[in-house]
Amino acid sequence: MTYIIAEPCVDLLDKACIEECPVDCIYEGNRMLYIHPDECVDCGACEPVCPVEAIFYEDDVPEEWSDYTGANYEFFEELGSPGGASKVGKIEKDATFVASRPAKSE
Ligand code: F3S
Ligand code: F3S
Repeated sequence: MTYIIAEPCVDLLDKACIEECPVDCIYEGNRMLYIHPDECVDCGACEPVCPVEAIFYEDDVPEEWSDYTGANYEFFEELGSPGGASKVGKIEKDATFVASRPAKSE
């Protein structure tokens, strides 16, 4: 199991979650952040600090945002397991589903 970042993160990228993760497994893409499903240790520390409640335990992702579960897995298909987001930095891509989302306007 893993934690999943969902729709509220898109185009916001608050990044408060990054500070909490003890294993540095929250990676930055173009339009949102993604949690590495193999590197996440399910500690739950990131979930309460997101100001827009975008983070969910995999089993608890709301039905309307279920596509984000696949998106978090897909994001790492080519990357493999880098073993730390801070050394990788921003990754200039998004999962297919996320890239297809309409831009949010303030
Ligand atoms: Fe996104 Fe929330 Fe983290 S908006 S970057 S999941 S703190
Ligand atoms: Fe990291 Fe724990 Fe969240 S391992 S991604 S802070 S559940």
